[in-house]
Amino acid sequence: MQQKTDFLIIGSGIAGLSYALKVAEYGKVMIITKASRDETNTKYAQGGIAAVTYAPDSVEKHIADTLDAGDGLCDEKIVRLVITEGMQRIGELIGWGADFDKDASGKYDLAREGGHSEHRILHHKDSTGAEIERTLLEQITRHPNITLHTHLFALDLITQHHLGEEVTRSSGGISCYGIYALNLQTKKVETILSRISLVATGGAGQLYRTTTNPRIATGDGVAMVYRAKGTVRDMEFIQFHPTGLYHPGESPCFLISEAVRGAGAILRNHEHEDFMPRYDERGSLAPRDIVARAIDNEIKLSGGEHVYLDCSGIGSEKFLAHFPTIHRKCLSIGLDPATDFIPVAPAAHYLCGGINVNEDACTDIGHLYAAGECARTGLHGANRLASNSLLEALVFAHRAALHSSARIGSVNFRSDIPDWNAEGTTAPREMILITENRRELQALMSNYVGIVRSNTRLKRALDRLRIIYGETEALYERTIVSPALCELRNLINVSYLVVKAAMARTENRGLHYNTDLENDQLATGQ
Ligand code: FAD
Ligand code: SIN
Repeated sequence: MQQKTDFLIIGSGIAGLSYALKVAEYGKVMIITKASRDETNTKYAQGGIAAVTYAPDSVEKHIADTLDAGDGLCDEKIVRLVITEGMQRIGELIGWGADFDKDASGKYDLAREGGHSEHRILHHKDSTGAEIERTLLEQITRHPNITLHTHLFALDLITQHHLGEEVTRSSGGISCYGIYALNLQTKKVETILSRISLVATGGAGQLYRTTTNPRIATGDGVAMVYRAKGTVRDMEFIQFHPTGLYHPGESPCFLISEAVRGAGAILRNHEHEDFMPRYDERGSLAPRDIVARAIDNEIKLSGGEHVYLDCSGIGSEKFLAHFPTIHRKCLSIGLDPATDFIPVAPAAHYLCGGINVNEDACTDIGHLYAAGECARTGLHGANRLASNSLLEALVFAHRAALHSSARIGSVNFRSDIPDWNAEGTTAPREMILITENRRELQALMSNYVGIVRSNTRLKRALDRLRIIYGETEALYERTIVSPALCELRNLINVSYLVVKAAMARTENRGLHYNTDLENDQLATGQ
């Protein structure tokens, strides 16, 4: 079955939905998502969206904080562009109906997070992402040119490769003509032809055993673009959020927003010591790479599995008013944040690298754009500043919309695309072959490619990945496609990119920390 759309968007998070609203006046828009409409990383965003609103904050201060967090690897031009354009994009979001908290005087109630020198985070209590997702979905539903298809799983981008032409990473001139997608209701693979496509598939937290990301975050877009011979960059920079709620057995891991530390909570070790000032003068509000590594070190020193977050200084009334979701969650497991220390540990949270795009969100594959967490724009460098990702997604979705809508008129559909070839494949007989490899992959990424790495650990990860890759590719060749198998394949592709990038990096920067490198300065806290 073949379908046609002017604009095809893979992903229904902030990047995909905001792009859709902007291109809809230039043609028919089809959004697809492999899950339900709102099951996205966006929905779970807590802290908020960083932007310069009032003095004494300034664009220059936000730029300086972003560059500092990125540890020398941000693209300064992109940082400036995102931060200067950001407030306009947030204005549009507010115009669409997003409700950000205000104080008694009617000014936005700005929160503070790690690495920010000012209060600058716009938020909707501690459920900012859910508010943004709700707003965008409401707008989408009303637009006559936009259709949203759930439970449609993008398998691969269609390029010249599917027309029998040889495509290599160096051949150039690759174009995207649409995608093959598995309809999870009919179990059929559909061919969706598009004139312009946007990859907005989000992150890849599911590479790790402990992650704040929902199950959908399996790096599908990054893997698809890489398989189609597009460029992927900065994959070694996986951000671990310092304060995932330590609650064994629960997956994904519930996040305790950094805004809680911004409101005055303090990290304490097993001796109840406020240990962060030993690692960084900014204490519990240092950038995430520093805090996560310090916690990892404290956990290793104590032999335990977590540290604590002491929220007693915030006051129970303020905590409940600002963080009702976190409050509810804590109570549900028998903790009162006003009086009890909350056990926390780092959890895989954000993919700083991804599909390489230019300032207009163009990938190096023709007619193909990428925005949101799956894209590598140059904003984050070696470590993302808290709450800069929702902002980045809005700015790059907007830029992709401007660029692609100006060109849609000159792009034609291909009429010679073959349908999906499932010849020689049969239904999977043993799901254990897939599920166990996913578990193994998450274990090896967690144990060998986590917050602290070493040459030996990376080599071990690569050796084991090669085995899992060989087994999974052999299975893929003979098996009817399913989300479980395709996600595993994508996770393997993305893990490989992370490990190779980590092995290639010759100095410690931001989120990449290898004890065998020369600038090994692992803070011991002594
Ligand atoms: P997502 O919102 O993740 O959407 C991805 C979409 O792609 C989904 O619809 C998914 O189903 C779809 N998809 C994926 N693969 C396929 C496929 N193969 N076929 C079809 N569809 C597919 N950032 C901030 O700036 N501030 C915060 O306060 C903040 N808090 C966070 C808290 C949590 C718990 C988490 C997990 C993240 C947080 N982040 C925050 C990060 C931020 O939420 C994400 O980076 C951002 O929402 C990503 O948006 P996106 O549109 O790129 O992708
Ligand atoms: C948080 O609320 O701590 C998450 C913010 C982010 O990931 O940007």
